Amino acid sequence: MTDTTTTSVGSGRHGGAEGTPILRARGITKSFPIGDRRLDVLHGVDIDVGRSESVALIGTSGAGKSTLLHVLGLLDSPTTGTVELDGVDAWALSKEKRASLRNLKIGFVFQFYHLLPELDAVENVLLPSMIRYGRGAYRRRKRELDTRARDLLIGFGLEERLDHRPEQLSGGERQRVALARALFHDPPLLIADEPTGNLDQATGSQVLELLFSEQKSRGLSLLMVTHDARLADRCDRTVYMRDGVVLDPSEVKDPLPVVP
Ligand SMILES: Nc1ncnc2c1ncn2[C@@H]1O[C@H](COP(=O)(O)OP(=O)(O)OP(=O)(O)O)[C@@H](O)[C@H]1O
Ligand SMILES: [Mg+2]
Repeated sequence: MTDTTTTSVGSGRHGGAEGTPILRARGITKSFPIGDRRLDVLHGVDIDVGRSESVALIGTSGAGKSTLLHVLGLLDSPTTGTVELDGVDAWALSKEKRASLRNLKIGFVFQFYHLLPELDAVENVLLPSMIRYGRGAYRRRKRELDTRARDLLIGFGLEERLDHRPEQLSGGERQRVALARALFHDPPLLIADEPTGNLDQATGSQVLELLFSEQKSRGLSLLMVTHDARLADRCDRTVYMRDGVVLDPSEVKDPLPVVP
């Protein structure tokens, strides 16, 4: 935690609208219908993530962090509010255009990996390409894509695991495959929801070293939910949430515990 203000670190090598943050959300609310009632989870969240900036999102369980990430990551619609991704008002786009913007601009890493069980490591990394290029173009580029996927996984220390399915991988290995999948298309923004929440400390540290090293070398913007103060400390900035709102840093009374 070196700064509590929003910083925009140039346009980086990912280009985009000069001077705008990679992500800018305003007035995000989110309600879920529960039977004949309505559960209001987000109550008007504003958040920016600058280019090449790393932001830790922390807060108590149930504060709405994952719900917010889903809206910011264009996976679930806000009830009200706007999300600008690389200068584009994403929720104003058609479903198809929004999906292609998401594929181009965002990589995701989740706590429980979200790998497809019937695919091996290389195929899991290639899955977004199959969706992105469609069958014909994917087939034509298959050899090149396959080589790139293998090289990335080898670079992540998985040389001996390329043809293993998720059930044949450890948690740390699964998360490295998930990270390779997220970064395969070199997106400008990585969104991570407790990426080490399911790993023991040593394994989690290895995954984090890899994540931060990729973040630096690629000039990635990172928005990451974590419950770990050490991890938050490694990010440029921390955003605190409670009960569906972002807190002003001066309102934060209980420091986050360091996970043992
Ligand atoms: N699809 C849904 N339908 C109804 N309620 C939901 C839905 N998704 C989330 N909620 C509710 O919204 C609130 C916030 O959930 P969310 O998962 O965003 O919290 P969180 O901050 O990520 O918590 P944690 O740290 O435990 O992961 C919770 O009370 C949850 O029950
Ligand atoms: Mg959550």
